Amino acid sequence: MDNMNDLINSLKEVPAMPNVIMHALNVMKDPESSMKELARIVSFDQSLSTKVLTLVNSAYYGLPQQITSINRAISLIGMSKAKNIILTVAMRPMLVNHGDKELWKHSIMTAVGCEHVARNLKIMDADEAFVMGFLHDLGKIVLNIKNPQLYDRVKETVASGSNILEVEQVYYGTNHCQMGSLLAKRWQLPLLINNVIKYHHSPNLSSIPVACSLVYLVDSLVKDEFDPSALDPNIMKNLKMQLDQPQILKESILAKADVLLRELST
Ligand SMILES: [Fe+2]
Ligand SMILES: [Fe+2]
Repeated sequence: MDNMNDLINSLKEVPAMPNVIMHALNVMKDPESSMKELARIVSFDQSLSTKVLTLVNSAYYGLPQQITSINRAISLIGMSKAKNIILTVAMRPMLVNHGDKELWKHSIMTAVGCEHVARNLKIMDADEAFVMGFLHDLGKIVLNIKNPQLYDRVKETVASGSNILEVEQVYYGTNHCQMGSLLAKRWQLPLLINNVIKYHHSPNLSSIPVACSLVYLVDSLVKDEFDPSALDPNIMKNLKMQLDQPQILKESILAKADVLLRELST
């Protein structure tokens, strides 16, 4: 079994975070000058800007008119949503190539669900919730890059009903929460995101239990094998919500996510 040093070294095998994401995440610090700067960086990459415009014009954002310039797109939807679109588009190759299509789909569904629930419950900024949901399983990329065959075995074992963290621990001596948090640190992701990556399976150990519980709920909800009775009531009480009709909530999240997934897979 690999020791921890080995695993930390394996972080070096993970590609650097796409530059444009770094800019997008830092951009909020100085919104005035950064809007133009962000538009300039995105416009520089032809395929990125095409995809960003496709998403901006998709039914998901429901804008009344067709937008054809990145500058206009960012000023119309706002920096915060623009940041999310850029993040989604720019991270796709990494999630698909170093995770798999399922991880990509799961990340989008969790992002959309977190945004939806955060907005309805008014527990936190919905755009921030989208990023948390999108990146929560980032650590799976690290384990997969370290040993893809072994990670296939993890997935098979989990599919037959075992707990993912326990299986990862047995095969790798660590889990995707720990490794994701280390990668988030290396990539200098915001502390909120790092915390959610680390504690989305154990929100009550986090200093921000509401954010982690939101991801915990949506992460479970969007899975095929979702079982409402398996949700931990001690975690759910952080959200102060009554989950009366989980199936309806699930369906509306999946329908919204489908719009994004269709636009992004073309
Ligand atoms: Fe997870
Ligand atoms: Fe997940």
